[in-house]
This record gives sequence, structure tokens and C-alpha cells, in this order.
Amino acid sequence: MKIRVPATSANLGPGFDSCGLALSSYLTIEVIDEDTKWTIDHELGENIPKDEQNLLVQTAQKVAPAIKPYHIKMSSTIPIASGVGSSSSVIVAGIELANRLENLNLTERQKIEIATSIEGHPDNCAPAICGDFVVASYFFNQDKPTIHYVKHYFPECRIIAYIPNSQVLTKESRSVLPETLSYAEAVKASSIANVMIAAVLNGDLVLAGKMMEEDRWHEAYREKFVPHLATIRKIVKRNGGYGAFLSGAGPTVLILTSEEKADFITSELEKMDGTAHIEQLSHDREGV
Ligand code: HSE
Repeated sequence: MKIRVPATSANLGPGFDSCGLALSSYLTIEVIDEDTKWTIDHELGENIPKDEQNLLVQTAQKVAPAIKPYHIKMSSTIPIASGVGSSSSVIVAGIELANRLENLNLTERQKIEIATSIEGHPDNCAPAICGDFVVASYFFNQDKPTIHYVKHYFPECRIIAYIPNSQVLTKESRSVLPETLSYAEAVKASSIANVMIAAVLNGDLVLAGKMMEEDRWHEAYREKFVPHLATIRKIVKRNGGYGAFLSGAGPTVLILTSEEKADFITSELEKMDGTAHIEQLSHDREGV
């Protein structure tokens, strides 16, 4: 049995903690056989456990406490701690693993609820589960966690990922955010997000791209983690791309462009810094 989970980009600028897009880069796990203990074969780095401490197993055990141990192969093209949903992909894979091995018949909504309760926000896990573009809200209604979500087709385009050779932990990148925002700032920030989403739904990537560069919730506070963002935006603007934004908590920046302009913009970005990895991606429309 194989499970494939897409990378995701959260926020898309102003859609902080609520918007996300599934991307064509994947975590794959393969169940080899039952075993006497959990064994996870991977080459993803020394810091990633190969036993039941692995987030995949921890998640599967949360969903199905009586699940038996298995020998699993895990591989991934999703860079770690880079803002493209690597942890979320493992959590979603763990939920799906328990779902299939234990025949739980979890619905899409149940999977999103479980993943969000682990992650704290739905903007990576919801598109990893549903594929494509997902807008989701997560709040407590009389102490009951409540999720509403809408999946929608994201217009065709090229997505360039500018992945710096550095890592940022989400916790660290969230620790610089303010505790409060003034009412006036929040109204402005939410109006920008609303127009961004409406433009995506209308298939208008020119307007959506503009709004993606106008975030008021988080990007300004995270500037120290992404000193390259301003230069990337200049290159994208000069060459007719739709827009560039910090992917999730960073440090990856995503650039949206038409197919015709993608190669030229990529070559201009390559001149910026020889250590960054630059990859052209597209949407994943299926999810897990
Ligand atoms: N919305 C989250 C953030 C995504 O920007 O912190 C990263 O997990």
C-alpha cells in the first residue's frame, strides 16, 4: 500500500492561517509489512526518527491507538522546515495510514479536523487532504472546535518555488507575530484577503497576485527570515509575473506567473543567489 501526500503553501500572502494551495511535490510512504516494532526507512536526515518516535507513527497512533507496528518506507521531495508543508504532509500521511490499515472510513472532513487539531491551523493540512486551493476557518464555538472549508479550482499558472538554503521553524516564525492588531488594521488586512480569494475564484490571477503582495497579517514581521523577498518581488514585477509571497512561515517564497514567463523569471531568480534551490511546480489537484 502506498500513500502520497502533496506539499502545500499556506497563507498565499493575506490568507493567513486560512488559505492554502497543494503543490506538485510529494511525500510518499509505502507499507512493506507488519513488524514486531515500527521501522521507518528513510534518507530524510539524521534528526528524523526511524522508530515509533517518527511523527508519522505518533499521528497514526493518535488516530488508532491499537494500530499494530509496521515496516514503512518513506521518501519525500518536500524540503524540511522551508514553509512548504513538510510536517503537515507527515501528519496527513499518518492519518491516512491509520485510516487505511484500520479501515476507519474517515471522511475528508474528519481527516481535516484531526489534522487541524494537531497542527493548530488548517491552511497546510486541508489542501494536503483535498488537493488544489482550500480556504478554511478554524475557531472555537462554545469550546467546540469548529471547521468550515471550501475547496476550489486554482487557475492554471506556473508556480516557482524559491527555496533558500536555510530553515525556519514555524514556532520561531510565529513567535515574532504581534499579540494584537488594531481594529482598523484588521479590517484592512481582511479586506485584502477577501479580494485575493474572490480574484482567485474569478480566475483573475493579475488581481489575486497584486493582493498576495499586500498582506498585513504576518509578512512584515517575518522580514528578517526572508531578506530575499523584496528583491524577488522586484524581479517578478519587472518581468510580468503575477506576484510573489512568503510560503507559509518561510523561508521559501512562491512566485506565480504565466507559463510563457516562467522560464525567464526562473533564470533571473537563479542569478540572485547560487545557494537557493529554484523549482518550477504546478498544482496538485487530488490531495492525499
Ligand atoms: N499559517 C501558518 C503560518 C503556516 O504562517 O505560521 C505555517 O505552518
